[in-house]
Amino acid sequence: MNKAKDQLSRELIKGWTQVAAGNQNMTASAHTIRIANATDAAAVSRLLKNSYSALLPAFYEDTVMAQILPLITKANPLLLNSGMFYVAMAGRGNVVGCGGWSVRRPKIGVKMNSQGNIRHFATHPDWLRRGIGRGILHRCIKAARSQKIERLNCYAALGAEPFYGANGFLAIKQIDVPISGDFSFPATLMCHELS
Ligand SMILES: CC(C)(COP(=O)(O)OP(=O)(O)OC[C@H]1O[C@@H](n2cnc3c(N)ncnc32)[C@H](O)[C@@H]1OP(=O)(O)O)[C@@H](O)C(=O)NCCC(=O)NCCS
Repeated sequence: MNKAKDQLSRELIKGWTQVAAGNQNMTASAHTIRIANATDAAAVSRLLKNSYSALLPAFYEDTVMAQILPLITKANPLLLNSGMFYVAMAGRGNVVGCGGWSVRRPKIGVKMNSQGNIRHFATHPDWLRRGIGRGILHRCIKAARSQKIERLNCYAALGAEPFYGANGFLAIKQIDVPISGDFSFPATLMCHELS
């Protein structure tokens, strides 16, 4: 990472932390979590775009962002209809958080016996650090346990490691997740043993 980018990243991380700190001082989060469905597609895509475009540039080069953003900000219809994907609702029916899990590995589609995979977690930048991500993650963990899943894997975006770490996941290794064609996404493989 070059010096200017490094400096910019520090500023953005500071900004993210300040946004989060500001949110912590606000009143408790009034949100509800429910299973998503196909009608949430547009709102989830909007949330992914708002969250990823505001929060990921602190950790990724501009060139990487320009390549991957259009590819990772579309709601996945399979996930939306799976019964294993959740949305957090607040205000007048706004989707302010999302996330879920699947038994198939993202991109590869291989089913791993007794293992699940965390998918598409995002919280709106105005709603950070109010327990929305944690609430959704714990719904996933509970559902996975009820289906006898022994381990949840996660390709954590670089800035999301502390979030998953605070919720029982251990970092295993740095990996490049293939997104499309030549594009890949540097991430951290993290795992949560459920058994
Ligand atoms: C990662 C993300 C989903 C977390 O959502 P969130 O709703 O703000 O998380 P929560 O409020 O539930 O945080 C739960 C705990 O995780 C930890 N945590 C969350 N964000 C953190 C951060 N930026 N730095 C350090 N710890 C953090 C804290 O321990 C927090 O508890 P606390 O607020 O009581 O200290 C959100 O930051 C996000 O959307 N990031 C951008 C997109 C992204 O990286 N998604 C993951 C893709 S794999």
